[in-house]
Amino acid sequence: MTGSQAPTSTVVRCHVNGRDVEMLVPVRLTVAELLRDRLGLTGTKVSCEMQVCGVCTVLVDGNPVSSCATLACDLDGTEVLTVEGLARGRDLHPVQEAFMSANALQCGFCTPGFIMMAVGLLDTHPDADQADIREWMDGNLCRCTGYEPIETAVTVAASGLAAATAEAGR
Ligand code: FES
Ligand code: FES
Repeated sequence: MTGSQAPTSTVVRCHVNGRDVEMLVPVRLTVAELLRDRLGLTGTKVSCEMQVCGVCTVLVDGNPVSSCATLACDLDGTEVLTVEGLARGRDLHPVQEAFMSANALQCGFCTPGFIMMAVGLLDTHPDADQADIREWMDGNLCRCTGYEPIETAVTVAASGLAAATAEAGR
């Protein structure tokens, strides 16, 4: 039998939380597996592995993606942001601060996914209102059902970011 075989691995080059990554990866490796198993970034959680729960959300070039359902080889040339990349030294990101102040977590398993989704929203729509927040976060599930404080946290973060933007524009 003749013919070329499909490659089983490929090199991916990208930035993860500002760090250069260049790695030979199996073509079927998911982004979640790359982050958690190859890079040790276990802040990104995995649950349904069917692109249903949003727990595994990370930002790729600013867009939220389900890392359980995205192939690592598709990250080539991209900027990836995970929950570990949000804080600046000891200073948490405003969305992280808002989740803490609103007690927007119980077991915390869904929290990284919600936070990354919220960051993706507020980076592009800093004026998001409650309806926008509800619609945007619709794909994220919390098994502890703590939706009200989560919504409060994102609303508080949106207000804080809007105020900071207004202050900076004076
Ligand atoms: S684990 Fe990826 S969407 Fe549920
Ligand atoms: S806080 Fe437990 S799953 Fe959301």
